[in-house]
Amino acid sequence: MSCSSEDKNCETPRRNAALIVLVLMAVIFLVLSAFSFVDSRGQVTPDQISYKGFSADEGKRVFQAYNCMGCHTIVGNGAYLGPDLTKEYKHAGPAWLEAFLPSAGSWPTAAAVRTHLATPEQLALAEAASWDDYLAKYPGSGERIERRGGQPTHMPNLAFREGEVAKLIAFLKYTSAMDNEGWPPAILSGDLQRRLALAGGAQAAAPATSSAAAPGAAAPAVAADPVKQGEQLVASLGCVACHATDASRKVGPGWGGVYGHEVELADGSKVKADKDYLRDSILKPNAQVVAGFPAGVMPSYEGQLKDDELDAVVAYLASLSDKKEQP
Ligand code: HEC
Ligand code: HEC
Repeated sequence: MSCSSEDKNCETPRRNAALIVLVLMAVIFLVLSAFSFVDSRGQVTPDQISYKGFSADEGKRVFQAYNCMGCHTIVGNGAYLGPDLTKEYKHAGPAWLEAFLPSAGSWPTAAAVRTHLATPEQLALAEAASWDDYLAKYPGSGERIERRGGQPTHMPNLAFREGEVAKLIAFLKYTSAMDNEGWPPAILSGDLQRRLALAGGAQAAAPATSSAAAPGAAAPAVAADPVKQGEQLVASLGCVACHATDASRKVGPGWGGVYGHEVELADGSKVKADKDYLRDSILKPNAQVVAGFPAGVMPSYEGQLKDDELDAVVAYLASLSDKKEQP
Protein backbone atom coordinates (compact mmCIF):
# COMPACT_ATOMS: atom_id res chain seq x y z
CA MET A 1 0.00 0.00 0.00
CA SER A 2 1.52 3.26 -1.11
CA CYS A 3 0.91 6.83 -0.02
CA SER A 4 -0.89 9.12 -2.37
CA SER A 5 -0.03 12.80 -2.35
CA GLU A 6 -3.15 13.71 -0.39
CA ASP A 7 -2.57 11.07 2.27
CA LYS A 8 -1.76 13.02 5.48
CA ASN A 9 -0.51 9.83 7.26
CA CYS A 10 2.48 9.63 4.92
CA GLU A 11 3.96 13.04 5.97
CA THR A 12 5.55 11.88 9.26
CA PRO A 13 7.49 8.79 8.03
CA ARG A 14 8.78 10.80 5.04
CA ARG A 15 9.95 13.63 7.23
CA ASN A 16 11.62 11.15 9.62
CA ALA A 17 13.40 9.43 6.77
CA ALA A 18 14.66 12.78 5.51
CA LEU A 19 15.89 13.73 8.97
CA ILE A 20 17.71 10.40 9.41
CA VAL A 21 19.47 10.84 6.06
CA LEU A 22 20.39 14.41 6.99
CA VAL A 23 21.86 13.33 10.35
CA LEU A 24 23.75 10.49 8.64
CA MET A 25 25.23 12.93 6.09
CA ALA A 26 26.22 15.31 8.88
CA VAL A 27 28.01 12.48 10.71
CA ILE A 28 29.85 11.36 7.55
CA PHE A 29 30.83 14.98 6.88
CA LEU A 30 32.21 15.45 10.39
CA VAL A 31 34.14 12.15 10.35
CA LEU A 32 35.72 12.92 6.96
CA SER A 33 36.56 16.46 8.10
CA ALA A 34 38.27 15.04 11.18
CA PHE A 35 40.24 12.62 8.94
CA SER A 36 41.59 15.48 6.85
CA PHE A 37 43.56 16.63 9.89
CA VAL A 38 45.23 13.24 10.37
CA ASP A 39 48.72 12.89 8.81
CA SER A 40 48.24 11.01 5.61
CA ARG A 41 49.36 7.38 5.61
CA GLY A 42 52.77 8.02 7.17
CA GLN A 43 53.72 10.25 4.22
CA VAL A 44 56.52 12.75 4.98
CA THR A 45 55.63 16.42 5.22
CA PRO A 46 58.04 19.26 4.39
CA ASP A 47 58.40 20.32 8.04
CA GLN A 48 59.87 16.90 8.91
CA ILE A 49 62.85 17.29 6.60
CA SER A 50 65.72 19.71 7.01
CA TYR A 51 69.33 20.03 5.87
CA LYS A 52 71.95 22.15 7.66
CA GLY A 53 69.11 23.76 9.62
CA PHE A 54 67.16 24.79 6.52
CA SER A 55 63.66 23.47 5.90
CA ALA A 56 62.36 21.88 2.73
CA ASP A 57 59.91 24.79 2.43
CA GLU A 58 62.74 27.30 2.27
CA GLY A 59 64.33 25.11 -0.40
CA LYS A 60 61.15 25.06 -2.42
CA ARG A 61 61.17 28.86 -2.54
CA VAL A 62 64.77 28.85 -3.85
CA PHE A 63 63.81 26.17 -6.38
CA GLN A 64 61.01 28.44 -7.61
CA ALA A 65 63.09 31.63 -7.52
CA TYR A 66 65.65 30.12 -9.92
CA ASN A 67 62.95 28.59 -12.08
CA CYS A 68 64.55 25.15 -11.98
CA MET A 69 61.22 23.83 -13.30
CA GLY A 70 61.82 25.77 -16.50
CA CYS A 71 64.25 22.95 -17.37
CA HIS A 72 63.59 20.10 -14.90
CA THR A 73 60.64 17.96 -13.89
CA ILE A 74 60.03 17.37 -10.20
CA VAL A 75 57.18 15.28 -8.74
CA GLY A 76 55.47 15.29 -12.09
CA ASN A 77 55.70 19.04 -12.85
CA GLY A 78 58.05 21.01 -15.02
CA ALA A 79 60.00 20.79 -18.25
CA TYR A 80 62.04 18.05 -19.87
CA LEU A 81 65.36 19.62 -20.86
CA GLY A 82 67.18 18.54 -17.70
CA PRO A 83 66.63 15.19 -15.95
CA ASP A 84 63.84 14.58 -13.43
CA LEU A 85 65.02 15.65 -9.96
CA THR A 86 62.43 13.93 -7.75
CA LYS A 87 64.82 11.19 -6.55
CA GLU A 88 68.10 13.02 -7.23
CA TYR A 89 69.04 13.22 -3.53
CA LYS A 90 68.56 9.50 -3.05
CA HIS A 91 70.71 8.67 -6.07
CA ALA A 92 73.56 11.16 -5.74
CA GLY A 93 73.48 12.23 -2.09
CA PRO A 94 74.11 15.59 -0.42
CA ALA A 95 77.90 15.79 -0.89
CA TRP A 96 77.62 15.25 -4.64
CA LEU A 97 74.90 17.93 -4.79
CA GLU A 98 77.05 20.30 -2.69
CA ALA A 99 79.84 19.87 -5.22
CA PHE A 100 77.63 20.04 -8.30
CA LEU A 101 75.11 22.83 -7.71
CA PRO A 102 77.38 25.89 -7.19
CA SER A 103 79.34 25.10 -10.37
CA ALA A 104 76.70 23.25 -12.37
CA GLY A 105 78.53 23.94 -15.64
CA SER A 106 80.89 21.04 -14.90
CA TRP A 107 80.35 17.58 -13.43
CA PRO A 108 82.15 17.25 -10.09
CA THR A 109 85.28 15.15 -9.76
CA ALA A 110 85.78 12.66 -6.92
CA ALA A 111 88.02 15.10 -5.06
CA ALA A 112 85.42 17.85 -5.39
CA VAL A 113 82.80 15.60 -3.78
CA ARG A 114 85.22 14.47 -1.05
CA THR A 115 85.73 18.12 -0.10
CA HIS A 116 82.16 17.99 1.20
CA LEU A 117 82.75 14.80 3.17
CA ALA A 118 85.96 15.84 4.91
CA THR A 119 84.70 16.43 8.45
CA PRO A 120 82.75 14.16 10.81
CA GLU A 121 79.87 16.69 10.69
CA GLN A 122 79.71 16.47 6.90
CA LEU A 123 79.73 12.66 7.06
CA ALA A 124 76.94 12.78 9.64
CA LEU A 125 74.88 15.07 7.40
CA ALA A 126 75.17 12.53 4.62
CA GLU A 127 74.41 9.73 7.11
CA ALA A 128 77.55 7.94 5.93
CA ALA A 129 80.41 6.49 7.96
CA SER A 130 83.11 6.95 5.33
CA TRP A 131 83.70 7.75 1.67
CA ASP A 132 83.14 4.12 0.67
CA ASP A 133 79.98 4.03 2.72
CA TYR A 134 78.78 7.18 0.95
CA LEU A 135 79.40 5.61 -2.47
CA ALA A 136 77.48 2.52 -1.39
CA LYS A 137 74.60 4.51 0.08
CA TYR A 138 74.23 6.83 -2.91
CA PRO A 139 75.15 4.58 -5.84
CA GLY A 140 74.44 7.33 -8.38
CA SER A 141 77.29 9.44 -7.02
CA GLY A 142 80.11 7.08 -8.00
CA GLU A 143 78.47 6.41 -11.33
CA ARG A 144 78.21 10.17 -12.05
CA ILE A 145 81.83 10.79 -11.00
CA GLU A 146 83.19 7.96 -13.10
CA ARG A 147 81.18 8.59 -16.20
CA ARG A 148 81.43 12.37 -16.40
CA GLY A 149 83.58 13.82 -13.59
CA GLY A 150 85.40 16.97 -14.73
CA GLN A 151 83.49 17.27 -18.01
CA PRO A 152 81.27 20.21 -18.98
CA THR A 153 77.48 19.93 -18.58
CA HIS A 154 74.55 21.49 -20.39
CA MET A 155 73.30 23.17 -17.22
CA PRO A 156 74.25 26.83 -16.71
CA ASN A 157 76.21 28.04 -13.67
CA LEU A 158 73.65 29.79 -11.46
CA ALA A 159 74.82 32.59 -9.16
CA PHE A 160 73.66 31.20 -5.82
CA ARG A 161 73.95 33.23 -2.63
CA GLU A 162 75.17 31.84 0.66
CA GLY A 163 72.85 29.16 2.05
CA GLU A 164 70.82 28.68 -1.12
CA VAL A 165 72.52 25.45 -2.13
CA ALA A 166 71.83 23.95 1.33
CA LYS A 167 68.18 25.04 1.06
CA LEU A 168 67.86 23.38 -2.36
CA ILE A 169 69.34 20.19 -0.94
CA ALA A 170 66.74 20.28 1.88
CA PHE A 171 64.01 20.46 -0.77
CA LEU A 172 65.50 17.64 -2.88
CA LYS A 173 65.89 15.55 0.28
CA TYR A 174 62.17 16.01 0.88
CA THR A 175 61.04 15.01 -2.62
CA SER A 176 63.36 11.98 -2.40
CA ALA A 177 61.72 10.91 0.86
CA MET A 178 58.20 11.16 -0.58
CA ASP A 179 56.48 7.89 -1.32
CA ASN A 180 55.07 8.78 -4.71
CA GLU A 181 54.13 5.18 -5.41
CA GLY A 182 55.98 5.00 -8.72
CA TRP A 183 54.35 8.16 -10.01
CA PRO A 184 55.11 9.99 -12.28
CA PRO A 185 56.03 7.23 -14.75
CA ALA A 186 59.38 7.37 -16.55
CA ILE A 187 59.63 10.20 -19.05
CA LEU A 188 59.41 9.06 -22.64
CA SER A 189 61.22 12.00 -24.17
CA GLY A 190 64.51 10.09 -24.54
CA ASP A 191 68.04 10.94 -23.46
CA LEU A 192 69.61 14.38 -23.11
CA GLN A 193 70.88 14.53 -26.70
CA ARG A 194 67.35 14.05 -27.94
CA ARG A 195 65.91 16.56 -25.45
CA LEU A 196 68.47 19.17 -26.51
CA ALA A 197 67.65 18.52 -30.15
CA LEU A 198 63.94 18.96 -29.34
CA ALA A 199 64.79 22.21 -27.54
CA GLY A 200 66.42 23.43 -30.75
CA GLY A 201 69.93 23.49 -29.37
CA ALA A 202 71.40 21.78 -32.39
CA GLN A 203 74.96 22.85 -31.70
CA ALA A 204 74.51 22.23 -27.99
CA ALA A 205 73.50 18.69 -28.84
CA ALA A 206 77.02 17.88 -29.97
CA PRO A 207 78.51 15.42 -27.51
CA ALA A 208 80.34 17.10 -24.64
CA THR A 209 84.07 16.93 -25.11
CA SER A 210 86.17 15.74 -22.25
CA SER A 211 88.27 18.35 -20.48
CA ALA A 212 91.76 17.66 -19.29
CA ALA A 213 90.61 16.49 -15.86
CA ALA A 214 91.22 12.85 -15.08
CA PRO A 215 87.95 11.66 -13.58
CA GLY A 216 88.13 9.96 -10.24
CA ALA A 217 91.70 10.20 -9.11
CA ALA A 218 92.28 12.70 -6.31
CA ALA A 219 95.93 13.48 -6.76
CA PRO A 220 97.60 12.06 -9.83
CA ALA A 221 101.24 11.01 -9.79
CA VAL A 222 103.37 13.80 -8.40
CA ALA A 223 104.95 15.75 -11.19
CA ALA A 224 108.45 17.02 -10.62
CA ASP A 225 107.52 20.56 -11.64
CA PRO A 226 105.33 22.21 -8.96
CA VAL A 227 103.55 24.38 -11.54
CA LYS A 228 102.63 21.25 -13.54
CA GLN A 229 101.59 19.47 -10.36
CA GLY A 230 99.46 22.47 -9.38
CA GLU A 231 97.79 22.44 -12.77
CA GLN A 232 96.89 18.77 -12.35
CA LEU A 233 95.63 19.37 -8.82
CA VAL A 234 93.25 22.21 -9.73
CA ALA A 235 91.77 19.96 -12.43
CA SER A 236 91.32 16.92 -10.22
CA LEU A 237 90.09 18.97 -7.25
CA GLY A 238 87.46 20.54 -9.47
CA CYS A 239 88.60 24.17 -8.89
CA VAL A 240 88.35 24.79 -12.63
CA ALA A 241 84.60 24.20 -12.45
CA CYS A 242 84.46 27.62 -10.75
CA HIS A 243 87.63 29.38 -11.95
CA ALA A 244 88.95 30.25 -15.38
CA THR A 245 92.72 30.24 -15.86
CA ASP A 246 92.56 33.59 -17.65
CA ALA A 247 90.87 36.73 -16.32
CA SER A 248 87.31 35.78 -17.25
CA ARG A 249 84.61 35.36 -14.66
CA LYS A 250 83.02 31.97 -13.99
CA VAL A 251 81.41 31.18 -10.62
CA GLY A 252 84.46 32.75 -9.02
CA PRO A 253 87.00 35.27 -10.35
CA GLY A 254 89.41 34.21 -13.10
CA TRP A 255 92.92 33.49 -11.79
CA GLY A 256 94.68 35.23 -14.67
CA GLY A 257 96.43 38.42 -13.62
CA VAL A 258 95.60 38.03 -9.91
CA TYR A 259 99.02 37.18 -8.50
CA GLY A 260 101.16 40.21 -7.83
CA HIS A 261 98.27 42.62 -8.42
CA GLU A 262 95.80 44.39 -6.19
CA VAL A 263 92.51 42.68 -5.37
CA GLU A 264 89.47 44.59 -4.21
CA LEU A 265 87.60 42.90 -1.38
CA ALA A 266 83.89 42.95 -0.55
CA ASP A 267 84.48 45.15 2.51
CA GLY A 268 85.97 47.85 0.27
CA SER A 269 89.60 47.26 1.25
CA LYS A 270 92.39 46.29 -1.13
CA VAL A 271 95.07 43.64 -0.71
CA LYS A 272 98.14 42.74 -2.71
CA ALA A 273 97.71 39.19 -3.99
CA ASP A 274 100.95 37.58 -2.81
CA LYS A 275 101.45 33.86 -2.10
CA ASP A 276 100.07 34.20 1.43
CA TYR A 277 96.90 35.78 0.06
CA LEU A 278 96.46 32.90 -2.44
CA ARG A 279 97.09 30.33 0.27
CA ASP A 280 94.57 31.99 2.62
CA SER A 281 92.00 32.26 -0.19
CA ILE A 282 92.17 28.48 -0.58
CA LEU A 283 92.16 27.55 3.10
CA LYS A 284 89.74 30.22 4.39
CA PRO A 285 87.77 31.49 1.39
CA ASN A 286 85.31 33.44 3.54
CA ALA A 287 87.94 35.42 5.46
CA GLN A 288 88.69 37.72 2.51
CA VAL A 289 85.88 37.75 -0.03
CA VAL A 290 86.58 39.23 -3.46
CA ALA A 291 84.33 42.21 -4.31
CA GLY A 292 81.43 41.30 -6.57
CA PHE A 293 81.39 37.62 -5.62
CA PRO A 294 79.25 35.78 -3.06
CA ALA A 295 80.70 34.53 0.21
CA GLY A 296 80.05 30.94 1.23
CA VAL A 297 80.16 29.49 -2.27
CA MET A 298 83.78 28.35 -2.42
CA PRO A 299 84.40 25.41 -0.07
CA SER A 300 87.35 25.54 2.33
CA TYR A 301 90.24 23.22 1.47
CA GLU A 302 91.63 23.32 5.00
CA GLY A 303 93.07 19.90 5.89
CA GLN A 304 92.51 18.55 2.38
CA LEU A 305 95.83 19.39 0.77
CA LYS A 306 99.27 18.38 1.92
CA ASP A 307 101.73 21.24 2.36
CA ASP A 308 103.58 20.46 -0.86
CA GLU A 309 100.28 20.19 -2.74
CA LEU A 310 99.16 23.58 -1.47
CA ASP A 311 102.54 25.02 -2.48
CA ALA A 312 102.12 23.52 -5.94
CA VAL A 313 98.62 24.99 -6.39
CA VAL A 314 99.87 28.41 -5.26
CA ALA A 315 102.86 28.14 -7.62
CA TYR A 316 100.52 27.33 -10.49
CA LEU A 317 98.17 30.24 -9.68
CA ALA A 318 101.18 32.56 -9.45
CA SER A 319 102.32 31.38 -12.90
CA LEU A 320 99.10 32.84 -14.34
CA SER A 321 99.94 36.39 -13.25
CA ASP A 322 100.36 37.67 -16.80
CA LYS A 323 97.25 35.96 -18.23
CA LYS A 324 95.20 39.11 -17.93
CA GLU A 325 93.44 39.00 -21.28
CA GLN A 326 89.81 37.90 -21.55
CA PRO A 327 88.86 35.60 -24.41
C1 HEC B 1 68.45 26.40 -18.44
C2 HEC B 1 68.02 25.09 -18.00
C3 HEC B 1 68.31 24.65 -16.58
C4 HEC B 1 67.99 25.31 -15.40
C5 HEC B 1 67.34 26.66 -15.22
C6 HEC B 1 68.38 24.40 -14.34
N1 HEC B 1 68.93 23.26 -14.86
FE1 HEC B 1 69.65 21.70 -13.80
N2 HEC B 1 70.25 20.78 -15.52
C7 HEC B 1 69.95 21.24 -16.80
C8 HEC B 1 70.44 20.27 -17.77
C9 HEC B 1 70.31 20.38 -19.28
C10 HEC B 1 71.03 19.22 -17.03
C11 HEC B 1 71.72 17.97 -17.59
C12 HEC B 1 73.13 18.37 -17.91
C13 HEC B 1 73.88 17.37 -18.74
O1 HEC B 1 73.52 16.18 -18.75
O2 HEC B 1 74.88 17.81 -19.35
C14 HEC B 1 70.90 19.58 -15.61
C15 HEC B 1 71.36 18.80 -14.57
C16 HEC B 1 71.03 19.00 -13.24
C17 HEC B 1 71.35 18.11 -12.16
C18 HEC B 1 72.13 16.83 -12.27
C19 HEC B 1 71.23 15.76 -12.76
C20 HEC B 1 71.95 14.42 -12.84
O3 HEC B 1 72.03 13.85 -13.93
O4 HEC B 1 72.43 13.96 -11.80
C21 HEC B 1 70.83 18.67 -11.01
C22 HEC B 1 70.90 18.10 -9.61
C23 HEC B 1 70.20 19.91 -11.38
N3 HEC B 1 70.33 20.09 -12.75
C24 HEC B 1 69.55 20.74 -10.49
C25 HEC B 1 69.02 22.00 -10.83
C26 HEC B 1 68.44 22.91 -9.87
C27 HEC B 1 68.28 22.65 -8.39
C28 HEC B 1 68.09 24.04 -10.57
C29 HEC B 1 67.50 25.32 -10.04
C30 HEC B 1 68.23 25.97 -8.95
C31 HEC B 1 68.41 23.79 -11.97
N4 HEC B 1 68.98 22.55 -12.09
C32 HEC B 1 68.19 24.69 -13.00
C33 HEC B 1 69.33 22.41 -17.12
C34 HEC B 1 68.91 23.38 -16.22
C1 HEC C 1 82.05 26.14 -5.98
C2 HEC C 1 82.88 27.11 -6.65
C3 HEC C 1 84.34 27.20 -6.27
C4 HEC C 1 85.27 26.19 -6.19
C5 HEC C 1 85.05 24.69 -6.39
C6 HEC C 1 86.53 26.83 -5.91
N1 HEC C 1 86.37 28.18 -5.82
FE1 HEC C 1 87.84 29.57 -5.47
N2 HEC C 1 86.43 31.04 -5.40
C7 HEC C 1 85.10 30.89 -5.63
C8 HEC C 1 84.42 32.16 -5.45
C9 HEC C 1 82.91 32.41 -5.60
C10 HEC C 1 85.41 33.09 -5.09
C11 HEC C 1 85.20 34.58 -4.78
C12 HEC C 1 84.64 34.79 -3.39
C13 HEC C 1 85.67 34.57 -2.32
O1 HEC C 1 86.69 35.29 -2.32
O2 HEC C 1 85.49 33.65 -1.50
C14 HEC C 1 86.69 32.36 -5.06
C15 HEC C 1 87.93 32.92 -4.78
C16 HEC C 1 89.16 32.28 -4.95
C17 HEC C 1 90.45 32.94 -4.90
C18 HEC C 1 90.72 34.42 -4.73
C19 HEC C 1 90.78 34.97 -6.16
C20 HEC C 1 91.01 36.44 -6.32
O3 HEC C 1 90.72 36.94 -7.45
O4 HEC C 1 91.42 37.10 -5.39
C21 HEC C 1 91.40 31.96 -5.12
C22 HEC C 1 92.90 32.13 -5.19
C23 HEC C 1 90.68 30.71 -5.29
N3 HEC C 1 89.31 30.94 -5.19
C24 HEC C 1 91.28 29.49 -5.54
C25 HEC C 1 90.61 28.27 -5.61
C26 HEC C 1 91.25 26.98 -5.68
C27 HEC C 1 92.75 26.75 -5.74
C28 HEC C 1 90.24 26.04 -5.71
C29 HEC C 1 90.37 24.52 -5.71
C30 HEC C 1 91.27 23.95 -4.74
C31 HEC C 1 88.98 26.75 -5.70
N4 HEC C 1 89.24 28.09 -5.63
C32 HEC C 1 87.72 26.14 -5.76
C33 HEC C 1 84.46 29.72 -6.01
C34 HEC C 1 85.04 28.46 -6.03
